[in-house]
Amino acid sequence: MPGVFRSSVSGLARHVTDAAELGIPAIALFPAIPAALKDSEASEALNPENLICSAARLLKAEFPQIALIGDAALDPYTDHGHDGLIREGYVANDETLAMLVKQSVNQADAGIDIIAPSDMMDGRIGAIRAGLDAAGHIHTRLMSYAAKYASAFYGPFRDAIGSGSALRGDKKTYQMDPANAEEALHEVAQDLSEGADMIMVKPGMPYLDIIRRVKERFEVPVFAYQVSGEYAMIMAAVQNGWLDHDRAMLESLIAFKRAGCSGILTYFAIEAARELYK
Ligand code: PBG
Repeated sequence: MPGVFRSSVSGLARHVTDAAELGIPAIALFPAIPAALKDSEASEALNPENLICSAARLLKAEFPQIALIGDAALDPYTDHGHDGLIREGYVANDETLAMLVKQSVNQADAGIDIIAPSDMMDGRIGAIRAGLDAAGHIHTRLMSYAAKYASAFYGPFRDAIGSGSALRGDKKTYQMDPANAEEALHEVAQDLSEGADMIMVKPGMPYLDIIRRVKERFEVPVFAYQVSGEYAMIMAAVQNGWLDHDRAMLESLIAFKRAGCSGILTYFAIEAARELYK
């Protein structure tokens, strides 16, 4: 997407320096795994020296003031593009949980402060919390993507990590139907009861009603993920001369605050901080 780049581990420091200088409190890491390292069992997800773990070690040492958010999900590592293991044609929930626990403990060992499960398996918050505690990571927080919809707006992200073209079928057996609202509240209640510290709603702008309802019902920290497709829409309109970049960017972000968000995960972070603090 315009203004968004994949980086090598060694090149990361330059981007993170910008974020640190602007006072951005946390960054989220996602891996673009070479196709040769992907397989049906997501083996690379459990490699304690994989891209995410090595990036986390480096960043933690260099930028102790920035919180690191690590993604718990298998889709960057599977050759079929799904967030879980496939057994008899279905994503196998419980077998996937064991992988997510190991993946999360590896990330916490490497210095990740906040584990953010984006996979939507059932029961993963409780399982990951127990696994982290057993490994001594009692301070590692859990930001649950509790309300994650099976959305068309993830396209550019899937292109960037190479999970899109390979994706067999869709993710509708584990991500939510965009028509459902109450289901989001059930998912959030379940994840909070299992130990989630914060809740993520994703995508953001098309689901502002969900953000508001979750905030009012549960009064916990709620985060919006302004996903790749949302960013891409605004940037495409800007590039066509149809929208004003700064005004559209800030209006889209203010909408999240108005809806009740405690924080926003966005591809605009650096530009928005520059604009707000100039
Ligand atoms: C999957 C994951 C996705 C995103 C973050 N984690 C895509 C998907 O569910 O296929 C999308 C983020 C974005 O579009 O910016 N674990």
